[in-house]
Amino acid sequence: MTTNHTHFLKLLKRETERIDSLGIAKRQENIIEKFGDEKNPHAIIDGKPFLIANSNDYLGLRHHPIVKKSEIEASEKYGAGPGAVRFISGSLKIYRDLEKRLAQFHGRDDAMIFSSGFAANLAALYCLCKGISRDALVTSDVLVISDELNHRSIIDGIRLANLPKEQRKIFSHLDADDLKNILEESSGTRERVIVVTDGVFSMLGELQNLKEIREVIDQCQHLYPLGITLMVDDCHGVGISGKTGRGTEEIFDTQADVLVGTLGKALGSDGGYIVADQTIIDYLRESSATYIYSNNISPGSAGAALAAINIVDSPEGKKLLESSRANTEYFQEKLKQSSFSLAAPSTHPIQPVLIGDTQKTKKLVDGFYDHGILVTNISYPVVPKGRDEIRIQISATHTTDDIEKIVRTFQNCQ
Ligand SMILES: Cc1ncc(COP(=O)(O)O)c(C=O)c1O
Repeated sequence: MTTNHTHFLKLLKRETERIDSLGIAKRQENIIEKFGDEKNPHAIIDGKPFLIANSNDYLGLRHHPIVKKSEIEASEKYGAGPGAVRFISGSLKIYRDLEKRLAQFHGRDDAMIFSSGFAANLAALYCLCKGISRDALVTSDVLVISDELNHRSIIDGIRLANLPKEQRKIFSHLDADDLKNILEESSGTRERVIVVTDGVFSMLGELQNLKEIREVIDQCQHLYPLGITLMVDDCHGVGISGKTGRGTEEIFDTQADVLVGTLGKALGSDGGYIVADQTIIDYLRESSATYIYSNNISPGSAGAALAAINIVDSPEGKKLLESSRANTEYFQEKLKQSSFSLAAPSTHPIQPVLIGDTQKTKKLVDGFYDHGILVTNISYPVVPKGRDEIRIQISATHTTDDIEKIVRTFQNCQ
């Protein structure tokens, strides 16, 4: 029987077909059956090994024996799941241990963990923009200024706050002068400002110059009665960028007021977090819906993350960070000898190789697959038309043979 609901399902199906016809569907995912060799893990797909050149696990920590052992030990001690949200059935000690470690790692008063980096960004932006109830003292007389290429979770966090258009502004990508112009032009219009940016931009591996941004903010603080708050999402920076893996802040020797990170990339586990001073964390624990009303990460993920941070801070971690840098430099050296080049200068393990045309890029990705290498194409509209790229992500565990094979495959498959 055809019902009104059937008509709705037809509409959904037509929409999925429209996406398919544009060639931008994402749901045909590779199914990885397992991983080979722990030291240089390959993904096994259809029984065949694949070199992984598209993972955020920049240090290979998700396969590290101590990280996996710590995950199992935490599950044995606390159970497989959190049981309930923290204010209902109590907070597992391992969550507090992890939060204290994260705060110490980033040189802050306190940290709070979330189910993901995405959930952390939604919470921080909503709660810092919005009065949380009619009686709340924190009002929404705020201007949010966001880098034009910020991650989707920042965009959605700002959307969630539902501020009128005049309270949302965008500054040109990586342009601290443009930020300054906006701050000066908007002077006197609002009580306070939130400036929000990615630390590392995931499509091109570019870094926001946080020192310049901090200087602009310091110069303009006096223009707003409640000042300017700097929020940085450094999900691709924490654990991997900077001499000791503290992220983009370490590179530019400055700190955000609110720093968002993930446990699910360089730290090899799962979940997200915020570090800040105690006042901000206390306020966010009282107001973040994705923290109060949503389960935390599993105890196993917390145990794994704790072990991963300890490794990053150990002599072994130092070596892994050095390998990551050396491998990235070796990739660039080899690429320079080929007919390919980067879409943007990047010192991060994200290495965006410019291809240009969408069909050519797709063909190359298929070629890589046929040669047993997993890479990802980043296509219009995520990047401007004609700037399609293959995003290579270098791992500290790649061998020189692996890197040479990746560059050779660009040549062989064009
Ligand atoms: C810049 C940035 N922020 C936030 C996230 C979300 O992190 P998570 O996967 O922990 O939700 C990502 C992940 O893709 C990211 O690249």
